[in-house]
Amino acid sequence: MKVDVLLGLQWGDEGKGKVVDVLTPRYDVIARFQGGPNAGHTLEFEGQKYVLRSIPSGIFQGDKLNVIGGGVVLDPALFKAEAEALEASGHPLKSRLHISRKAHLILPTHRLLDAANEAAKGKSKVGTTGKGIGPTYTDKISRNGVRVGDLERDFDALYTQAKERHLGMLRGLMTAEDYTAALTKLETTEKEWMEGVEYLRGFTFTDSEHEINRMLKEGKSVLCEGAQGTMLDIDYGSYPFVTSSNTICAGACTGLGVAPSKIGRVFGIIKAYCTRVGGGPFPTELMDETGDKLCAIGHEFGAVTGRRRRCGWIDLVALRYAIMLNGITDLIMMKSDVLDTFETIKACVAYEIDGKVVEDFPYSISEGVKPIYTELPGWQCPLGKMTSEDEFPEEFNNYLTFLEEELEVPIRIVSVGPDREQTIERYLEN
Ligand code: GDP
Ligand code: IMO
Ligand code: MG
Repeated sequence: MKVDVLLGLQWGDEGKGKVVDVLTPRYDVIARFQGGPNAGHTLEFEGQKYVLRSIPSGIFQGDKLNVIGGGVVLDPALFKAEAEALEASGHPLKSRLHISRKAHLILPTHRLLDAANEAAKGKSKVGTTGKGIGPTYTDKISRNGVRVGDLERDFDALYTQAKERHLGMLRGLMTAEDYTAALTKLETTEKEWMEGVEYLRGFTFTDSEHEINRMLKEGKSVLCEGAQGTMLDIDYGSYPFVTSSNTICAGACTGLGVAPSKIGRVFGIIKAYCTRVGGGPFPTELMDETGDKLCAIGHEFGAVTGRRRRCGWIDLVALRYAIMLNGITDLIMMKSDVLDTFETIKACVAYEIDGKVVEDFPYSISEGVKPIYTELPGWQCPLGKMTSEDEFPEEFNNYLTFLEEELEVPIRIVSVGPDREQTIERYLEN
């Protein structure tokens, strides 16, 4: 058996959580491979809405095993809040969630460092989610991290050592006044965090690389759930305005200990348009009424921070690049219904940079990039209640065909609303 991978092809928030939930009945195991509580994956069904941060989106459909892989960074305090809320809403977790010993812990001081690093950057700040993601991955790479597996070993010593290191760094980054205020606040957050650690100890820690490979050998099927999006990848995204993990398909190999030869289908999730939250370049961003309209109809406010998401037209230059990096086999298009009322829809097919037409995503898109658009007629009717592709209006079919021709990958699933049921399969085969 091979693992299938599902990931975002834009700047995150494409609708990954919804699709993982929809696909879960076809798999035995759902595994998160990178990122942490910077993610906010929204699921809606039976009139209820859930936002998942660290827990895989396979938790609502039957007794599937959900795995938090070694490439993930975990904040015990946020994990406790998320898990307790799920348990309280009637979704027991303990028997269905395994956590990799190799996952790194986000310490309270990592969050302080995240804020201090951002403040030091001033105007060029990344606009992080403030969850300590960057500093935690920094410690991992510099071999100073504290891992879930350390909770079974010499956790106390490692925690104290890391905290002292971080306080030294914070003293250098902050004014004396801010540092004192931060120390006072730390007392409360540390207490909550330690309660989270005790709660976490109640879960099953595993060597998830062995667990997943064993299950593959037994013929079990695995779906890997990505967080963030390809354009936020640490190596290939719009650096330095990126997150600190490999969000691309290769991240599933390193984050779960699955060999490249074991990767099967790679599902690329896209919005019918494009959004970005936080700083950084966004060539097709609309700073006008059309952008405001996309934001209003699409409810484009961050699931984690509540920040307004920047909105723009779909960017096929960036998408072709993302498809190449991930080896996408199937596309899944979300939020199609958001475009229902638009008279015309634009798609960026190339960039103009310094008077030259550029089709390959360039090294830098920070300045002087002008999108070149193809304009298509809108369908101007509601898609939300449709249940099969036979009902699609001609203009919507034309938009799908246009995207498939430009991107050279079939769009297998179309989402026409936030609810689990508002999902339409095309080319049904399995
Ligand atoms: P993720 O981080 O990729 O899982 O995506 P988010 O949950 O952060 O953002 C996607 C948002 O769009 C959520 O509020 C979903 O409920 C919503 N959503 C998902 N699919 C659709 C869709 O087809 N139509 C509409 N209108 N909303 C959708
Ligand atoms: P999901 O999984 C959208 C963005 C932040 C910021 C940058 C770095 O819900 O799609 P970080 O806190 O990771 O150091 O922030 O990345 N970002 C996301 N944007 N969706 C996400 O996750 C994101 N996770 C991080 O806004 O620009
Ligand atoms: Mg999200």
